[in-house]
Amino acid sequence: MGKRDKKANHRRQKGTFSNDAEDFYDQHPPVVPSVDDEDEENSEEEEEEEEKEGNESSDLPSKFLLYQQSVQSPKGDISYLQKFFLMYIGGRQPLHFQEDFCGTALLSAEWLKTDTRRTAIGLDLDLEALEWCMDNNISKLGSDVYSRMSLFHGNVLSPLEAKQVKSKSHELIQNINLDDGVNEDLVDLSVESLEKDAPESPDSLPKRDLVCAFNFSCCCLHKRSELVSYFKNARDALSKKGGIFVMDLYGGASAEGQLKLQRKFPNFTYTWEQAEFDIVSRKTRISLHYHLQKQNRKIRHAFSYSWRLWSLPEIKDCMEEAGFRAVHFWLREMPDASEMRRTDGFGAGRDIKYEEVKNFQQCDAWNAYIVAVSF
Ligand SMILES: C[S@@+](CC[C@H](N)C(=O)[O-])C[C@H]1O[C@@H](n2cnc3c(N)ncnc32)[C@H](O)[C@@H]1O
Repeated sequence: MGKRDKKANHRRQKGTFSNDAEDFYDQHPPVVPSVDDEDEENSEEEEEEEEKEGNESSDLPSKFLLYQQSVQSPKGDISYLQKFFLMYIGGRQPLHFQEDFCGTALLSAEWLKTDTRRTAIGLDLDLEALEWCMDNNISKLGSDVYSRMSLFHGNVLSPLEAKQVKSKSHELIQNINLDDGVNEDLVDLSVESLEKDAPESPDSLPKRDLVCAFNFSCCCLHKRSELVSYFKNARDALSKKGGIFVMDLYGGASAEGQLKLQRKFPNFTYTWEQAEFDIVSRKTRISLHYHLQKQNRKIRHAFSYSWRLWSLPEIKDCMEEAGFRAVHFWLREMPDASEMRRTDGFGAGRDIKYEEVKNFQQCDAWNAYIVAVSF
């Protein structure tokens, strides 16, 4: 597609809103249609130049921080997880949580904060994200939280081969002589951590009450056999007393084509780009871009994903094949681009709650939680 066609296509998606990060934090999902006027100002060549500068500059906030602020909604996800557990399992409080495809494990950090009996496991292929998580989301919450969090670097398709990730201060303390005179806070964190008998594999930890895969991560798995195999692993991780696996999914007419959506935050603008959608393979290429106005920098393709957009019945079939006893769909319709223009932008989607459904008519954009129950 030529530049002119591309711009014309973007123009069809216009609509705008702005919102502060505080309001956004508890929202799910990451994107709602909006305007993309700023991109019209720049040619592709200019954008490429800015991308290079942006990635090289050290005064930019970490892309992981921008992602957490713009995409994630841990409090909202956790309150739905608790509600689902009480509805479909009940009889006890969920304490042990596993976040698959965890990235920077923000949900796990949130999970651990509110109850000292809680434990969390995070698993991801991206070592850089896991290390950033340790340094920025976990270690600063103190030794108690650190001792209840286990981060693993590995593939969700072979979780038993995953390697545990430790904080840098933990590794450091193993190599220092206490007579050398060291920072007492560091010793405090690390000694307690060392006392914990560090497990080498997720299998050696208490079985989980909840396992989740959020922000459409199951779409990273492209083959049906992989999906079934992953769901079996998720089920194996769950407690025999009963547990749930919860994943999310998006869809609707606007999900199956090219699309560029934008959200403004106080210090940056976040863009979600669907570069293509192939109806034969149902594969799409998603890129997340950030524009930091104050620094006049862009971080283009900060995150890129190749996703297969699974359908709800495909997911249900695979969950049942993996041995789950029941599967529940919770959906909400998202505002489409024209609605966004008529209302106060982001506010249009703010109060829409998920509801359990047996049927749901196609619309421009929807989001779903899919809850699989195991006993
Ligand atoms: C869309 S991000 C989601 C991150 C986070 N869960 C969230 O809610 O924002 C997908 C994550 O899945 C990870 N990932 C992709 N394939 C994986 C696999 N086979 N095993 C483990 N992690 C994987 C990527 O490294 C990335 O961090």
